[in-house]
Amino acid sequence: MRIIIRDTAQEASRLAASQIITSLPTNGRLGVATGSTPLALYGFLREAHAAGEFTLEGCSAWALDEYVQIPEDHPERYRNVLLNELVENGGTGLAADDLHTPDGAAEDPEQAARDYESQIAPGVDVQILGLGSNGHIGFNEPAGSLSSRTHVGHLTPTTRSDNARFFGNDIDAVPSLCITQGLATIMSAREIVLLAFGEGKAEAIAQIVEGGVAQRWPGSILQHHENVTVYVDEAAASRL
Ligand code: GLP
Repeated sequence: MRIIIRDTAQEASRLAASQIITSLPTNGRLGVATGSTPLALYGFLREAHAAGEFTLEGCSAWALDEYVQIPEDHPERYRNVLLNELVENGGTGLAADDLHTPDGAAEDPEQAARDYESQIAPGVDVQILGLGSNGHIGFNEPAGSLSSRTHVGHLTPTTRSDNARFFGNDIDAVPSLCITQGLATIMSAREIVLLAFGEGKAEAIAQIVEGGVAQRWPGSILQHHENVTVYVDEAAASRL
């Protein structure tokens, strides 16, 4: 793992954007994360697109996860979040049809998970990741399998509480089921860029970078990947 520490989340996000612009091949497959962490990075990608320095035209983007049975027009439906960040608002050149997200509205979410897994094989070129305060990546919560593929998962109370801020601070409004790429699916990416900012991520960063590989901290599996760069601000790096 390469660890890049910068004073601010903004500086770290700018560097992460540069890495993605350099690494993503023409017509490449980019794995995209949601949550608040990658928003500045997406802003830099839109800026680079507006400046004619970068485009996702001809590329495809693959979401890590999606809530199950969230209303189609809900602003926190991850498909809507990613359309907003990558296709609308000036966009990045990505076509809406080239944004792939698990079908959280499917009658059979287990089948939707299997379908997504087969579409994403053999893995993306570059995967962007955030990190849950409990060490989750995608929605792979602590104590799950370290070799899972895309599956239907339950959100832990910690994650539902962390994400309640996106649902009017009402934890009961946060869906409790999701479809998420598994840890083995995420590990099949050729290159991984993980971002984590703020004191609330400091313990998770210390555990996934310096702790042992363990189900308790799902992101620790990344220690077995040969090409991972972790971008953190001073606060998230404070326990390293
Ligand atoms: C969410 C997402 C993850 C994200 C994480 C951190 O629940 N499923 O992909 O990385 O939690 O969110 P945030 O960046 O808002 O802290």
